[in-house]
Amino acid sequence: MKKSTNTIWHHATVTRDRREQQNGHRSTVLWFTGLSGAGKSTLAHAVEEELHHQGCRTFVLDGDNVRHGLCSDLGFSAEDRTENIRRIAETAKLLTEAGVIAMTAFISPFRSDRERARSLFSHGDFIEIYCQAPLELCEQRDVKGLYRRARAGEVKDFTGISSPYEPPLSPELVVATDSLSLEDCVAQVLSLLHSRGVINWDNNQSQCTIRRHVS
Ligand code: ADX
Repeated sequence: MKKSTNTIWHHATVTRDRREQQNGHRSTVLWFTGLSGAGKSTLAHAVEEELHHQGCRTFVLDGDNVRHGLCSDLGFSAEDRTENIRRIAETAKLLTEAGVIAMTAFISPFRSDRERARSLFSHGDFIEIYCQAPLELCEQRDVKGLYRRARAGEVKDFTGISSPYEPPLSPELVVATDSLSLEDCVAQVLSLLHSRGVINWDNNQSQCTIRRHVS
């Protein structure tokens, strides 16, 4: 709910367009969603490595990290997750205005929250990427030991165990993080960025030449 009144939008003279021209690529948000342990952060950071290597401006907003600061007052109730996603979406929007390719790696389990996030962006600026890995595999991996603790009742509202995960119905990309190599997952994301003209974007001033395949 908006509480601030009497505020007037100030238009920047250094616009997103000008930043994009200078960067040699478009800005966008890559919204990674999936269960805990599905590989969202790993994939987002690997994509960032590749983009950074090629001179693109990038930033990853990571679930666990953001909850140490910006969202440290939030837990895992449905309301808190909704507020978590709202703040992240607004932050990602600022980053795209700043000309950055922003990547968010949050479970973001609720479709309505992701749709609300999408609604903040112009058509085409919000790229939803579903990191698809079955619960059984995430639970088996259990990198942080949280699934085991959730099964033991020590962690409540745990996604996939005691709180729902609603898979996207029509994401821009589904990445089978359970069966593909990390390199192949990265290549899929980069290929999508190519096809949408985010990178390798010829703006008549400069070009960002991203390798299509990761060696
Ligand atoms: S979200 O649901 O609000 O999008 P977010 O991605 O920020 O979640 O945080 C998820 C991370 O917090 C998980 O990867 C896990 O490490 C940790 N975590 C701690 N408690 C929970 C819980 N109850 N449900 C899910 N993840 C949890």
